[in-house]
Order: sequence, then C-alpha cells, then structure tokens
Amino acid sequence: MTAVVTLADIPGPAEDSYLGNLHAFSSDPLAFLTRCAREYGDVVRLGDHNVLLTGPELVERMLVDRNEVFSKKGVENSGRAARGRGFPRAMMNSDGADWKAKRHRLQPAFGRTLAVKAAELVDAQGERMLAGWRPGEPRDLHRDVSVLVLRLVTGLMFGDEFTARDAAVVARLVRPIMELSTSPLLLPDWLPTPRHLRLKRGLRDMDRLLRRLTADPAAVDPERAPVLHALVTGTPAPSPDELRDELATLVLSAFETSNDAVVWTSVLLARHPGAAARVRDEAVAAFGSTPPGLARMERLPYTNAAVRESLRLYSPAWMTSRDSTADLEFGGFAVPAGTTVTVSQWVNHRDPRHWERAGEFDPERWLEGGARKMPRGSYFPFGLGARACIGASLATTETVHIVADIWRRHRLELLDPERITPRPALALQPMGVTVVPRPW
Ligand code: HEM
Repeated sequence: MTAVVTLADIPGPAEDSYLGNLHAFSSDPLAFLTRCAREYGDVVRLGDHNVLLTGPELVERMLVDRNEVFSKKGVENSGRAARGRGFPRAMMNSDGADWKAKRHRLQPAFGRTLAVKAAELVDAQGERMLAGWRPGEPRDLHRDVSVLVLRLVTGLMFGDEFTARDAAVVARLVRPIMELSTSPLLLPDWLPTPRHLRLKRGLRDMDRLLRRLTADPAAVDPERAPVLHALVTGTPAPSPDELRDELATLVLSAFETSNDAVVWTSVLLARHPGAAARVRDEAVAAFGSTPPGLARMERLPYTNAAVRESLRLYSPAWMTSRDSTADLEFGGFAVPAGTTVTVSQWVNHRDPRHWERAGEFDPERWLEGGARKMPRGSYFPFGLGARACIGASLATTETVHIVADIWRRHRLELLDPERITPRPALALQPMGVTVVPRPW
C-alpha cells in the first residue's frame, strides 16, 4: 500500500517563488498549467493551498465521487471570479443543501422540451443573422453570433426575446467581467478604476433589463417562459435579489460559452477545408430534407463531431476550481481541508498520454467511436457529475445547428488568421476573429 504523504510533499512549481508562479500563471495560464502537468504528473502543488489534478480518474473522483465535499462558494466569490460573477445567491455559486434546492427548482425546465424548442426556433434566428451578410464583406463573427444566441436563449427561457440593444447591454457587462477575470492585479472592488466603474454601470443596466422580465410574476406563462416560470413559482420562493442573480448568471453563461463554441468551431473549419466541405454537404442535405427540429439534428452527425472536437481543443470552460471541506486523498497524496483544487479542460483535453494526435483537429475520431470510450475525466467540456452544466443539451443543439446553418450557406475565410488567439478569461474567448463569407 502506498504511504500517504502530505501537501508539502506533492511535487510542483510551488518550490519556485510565489511571485514567479503568480506571474507565470497570470501572463499565460494555459501554458503554465500545461507545463505543470507535463513536468510534475497527475497531482501538482501550485502553492501552499493549491493543487492541480490532471489524471482523468482523479478528475472524475473530484467532480463526481467527492463532489459533496467540495465547495464552489468560496472560490467563485473571492478574488478573480468574484469581480466577474458576483452573483452570490445564484445556484451556480451555491453549495450543499442550498444548491440542491435551487438546482431542483430549475432542472425540470431544462428537460428535453427545451432542446426540442431550441431546435425548432434556431432556424429563424439563423435566418435573421445571415440575412445581413454579403459575400466578400468582413464580419465580426463573435458579435453577430452573440446577438443570435442571446435572442434565442432569452426567447426560449424567458419568453421575451432580447433585442440587439439589450444584447449590447449584456455585451457591455461581459466586457469588464472578462477583462477583470484576466487581470493579475487584485484591486479592491470599491476602487473607482475605469474597469470597476464600467462593471458597476454594466450591472446597473443589466438589473434594469432583468426587472422588465420579473415585473409581473403572475403573468409568466409556463409554456412560453419555462425557465422564468420555474423560478418565479418554484420552491423555495426566491427573493428579488436571488431572482436577479439567477437570471443574470443564466444569461451570462448562455451568452458567452455557446457563442465561443460556434466561433471556435468556425475558426477550425476555416482552417480545415476538407472538414468544412463535409459539414456543408451534410448540412445542405439535412436542411433540404428535414424540417427544423431534433430530427434534423440527427442528420448532422459529422457537424456534431466537429463541434465535439472543437469543444475538445478550445473548451470555453478551460478550468474550474473548488475548495475541499474535508481531508482527502488523491493519487496517494493527502490533500487537507481548505485546499483549492483545480482541474483543467485545456490540459486534459490535449493530454498526449491519453489522446492520439492530441493537437490535431480530427472530427473523425468521434465518428469512429473511439473518443466516446475515453475515460470521463479526459473530456468534460460541460463539467461532470451533479454540478455539470444545466444547459448542456440546449447548448449542443444550438451550436450544431448554427454551425451547420452558417456553413451550408457560406465558406468562411479568416481575414487575419495570425491574429486569432485564445483569451483564457472566465471563458476561453476567441480574440481577433474577422471572417469573410465567400460563395461555395
Ligand atoms: C457551449 C456552451 C456551454 C459550456 C461549454 C458550458 C460549460 C459549463 C461547465 C463546464 C459547467 C460546470 C462548471 C463547474 O464544474 O464548476 C457549467 C455549469 C453551468 N452552466 Fe453551462 N455551459 C454552456 C452553456 C450553458 C447554457 C446555454 C446555460 C443556460 C442557459 C448554462 C448554464 C449553466 C449553469 C446554470 C451552470 C451551473 C450548474 C450548477 O452549479 O449546478 N450553460 N457550464
């Protein structure tokens, strides 16, 4: 039997200077986490109270088996994430029995019916976005898709489609959140820095937007607004602040992540013309023969594989952390209560020990079935276990459909491919993506 050793014995860059590590993490977190995993193994000590887990079975043990003894509250509401998400009463930022009751209140509204409705409604939204595109005219893909996604998900969840102006309000809030989440400087929130002021204004405008939705709870229709209805009529009845926090986190999670997934998949297809042509052929056939709905989605297996592969290489959720509330053991090491434990999709999805040709975009690997048999901790774009993404099937449905719709009509060319970089903020944002639609 392996002797259990303590946190101090875990190998890692913690032996280097604290400031050196902070600088390395802040300036390039993706490279820093990758280097730690490759140099030190499946359990890495990042600092006096910080551990990185990379072995797939360890990730599964943390997120699935031992989920109940990990807390998201402290982590999400402190430091970098606090200034970003700052909605402490939302389910996403709750723990234990409180989280369970809130998840229970929302879960039924995120069932199959919502994905079916999404598959039916997404067509019209795609039509609206693409009507404004002209062959040869450059487009800011991230901005265009963000309006589409926001209209779709707010219409679906709240029965009230946000307008392009509302989308601008959300975008103005997301911008300082993302900037602050990448800033290495932990300035107190009350300091009136330009970013803090922009964040404050953004939160105030978002508040106004959300108050519109909740002005008359008795009038909320369960068919048209299933998610809002589940919240305003659910038990425990949310306070006005809690309702605001739930709605804001739902809008923000839906807004950035699905948008990033569509844009990253399009960047990869633009770089792989063979794969793009397959998506196009499949999409032309599916849209030509099947009305909008889940049946059409089933006729897009290659597009689905391309989206899965994009979620592997550029997972919008690139790392997640929790605080342990009990003494635990991982890979033969003792990890005491109070340790912040991190796992990273970026690291595990690209681990050459587990993935063949890990850095290559190869949708085929999902069709052959091999990738589907990988251990769960090797691929977790939507998280794992009880706290996995509540919007996963909605997100997959809309992403696959939007990608198919764009690519069946246009071949996208990247205007300045060298400029495109991933920005690891709260989500992994594609920066510098301008596309030029071309005829096939
Ligand atoms: C491609 C799109 C998306 C990705 C990659 C994604 C990813 C994730 C991940 C990784 C988690 C778990 C975080 C953790 O373990 O700490 C999560 C949780 C969550 N997601 Fe998503 N998400 C997406 C879309 C959506 C959408 C469309 C919604 C809602 C409409 C949504 C709402 C949520 C919520 C509320 C949680 C918290 C669940 C809980 O704490 O129980 N997400 N998401």
